[in-house]
Amino acid sequence: MRILVTGGAGFIGGHLAESFLSDGHIVTVLDSFEPFYAEGIKRHTLDVHRKVADEGDAEYRFVEGDVRDQETVQELVAGVDVVVHQAAQAGVRESVDNPRKVTDINVSGTVNLLEASKEADVERVILASSSSVYGKPKSLPYKEYHPTEPVSPYGVTKLTQEHMARVYTELHDLPTVCLRYFTVYGPRMRPNMAISNFVSRCVKDDPPVIYGDGQQTRDFTYVADVVNANRTLLEFDAADGHVLNIGSSNNISIQELAETVRDQLAPELEIEYESAREADAEHTHASVEKASELIGYEPSRTITEGVGEFIEWYQANREWYEPLVRSS
Ligand SMILES: NC(=O)c1ccc[n+]([C@@H]2O[C@H](COP(=O)([O-])OP(=O)(O)OC[C@H]3O[C@@H](n4cnc5c(N)ncnc54)[C@H](O)[C@@H]3O)[C@@H](O)[C@H]2O)c1
Repeated sequence: MRILVTGGAGFIGGHLAESFLSDGHIVTVLDSFEPFYAEGIKRHTLDVHRKVADEGDAEYRFVEGDVRDQETVQELVAGVDVVVHQAAQAGVRESVDNPRKVTDINVSGTVNLLEASKEADVERVILASSSSVYGKPKSLPYKEYHPTEPVSPYGVTKLTQEHMARVYTELHDLPTVCLRYFTVYGPRMRPNMAISNFVSRCVKDDPPVIYGDGQQTRDFTYVADVVNANRTLLEFDAADGHVLNIGSSNNISIQELAETVRDQLAPELEIEYESAREADAEHTHASVEKASELIGYEPSRTITEGVGEFIEWYQANREWYEPLVRSS
């Protein structure tokens, strides 16, 4: 199968492209190297892709370009069966500081891609959405029909993207599926997230820092589970036209997360607290029933197992990853 992964130099897109290459697909990655965090992490991801492609004799192409560039997107989409759209300006706080830029990339970029996919008659577009579309919980765990009232510009862009995808499915018969990811973590993860922060501090005996009182809860999803959901959707039409939660279905507080990391690395450290940051959701918790029914999705790791795997990976890759985490 010929697959275009947008944002494929990034954390999640990088894992998706790697897995598709291992499966022998023909993969094109489009990424603009948005300077949100250290570019070196993305360069490393591209090296992994080339290595996997070489080992399996798979066809791989990297294109440095922007999803908002109509010509580039049309050219790349014209040659593929499935589009896996991960490119976005991620980060809730970034969206509070730069709402125009985030809207431009996440909304205009997506429309560009949907338009090209309609013209090229691709088999399916799979889009990365986010638990941020829900906003304040009226009931937990979130089911997909929970009201959507995002509390950040980022959440609004992701909700707009979902509506755009639905409209393209309804108006143009373009099969689309939106996956609402719940805080994803794992190897090569973005540096500016709680798990990578806690690990990078604890390995050098600095206390983990919690913003707020630590009672915010999160559903942390191991990246391998996100990969599995996307892999299934390449071949499967049962979720076309749908929005699915992709989470671990097991939320924990930031306090518990900090303790889990601290206890595995430096149990003697005292956790520190700083004031809460605006526009962060208070609680997220996914119901994955719908994804389980439609595509057989099952989360594979508990948070303790996933954090343990991430720490193991971090220690094995510390030499190149740690300086990049610190510089981000
Ligand atoms: N990581 C999470 O916890 C999480 C949770 C919910 C949703 N998501 C969504 O999943 C997707 C992937 O997130 P991630 O964590 O891998 O983020 P990431 O920042 O690591 O990856 C996004 C990639 O998109 C690229 N990009 C940004 N703007 C672009 C543009 N205009 N043209 C081409 N490429 C562009 C970036 O350079 C980056 O490599 C995003 O759509 C994000 O909104 C992530």
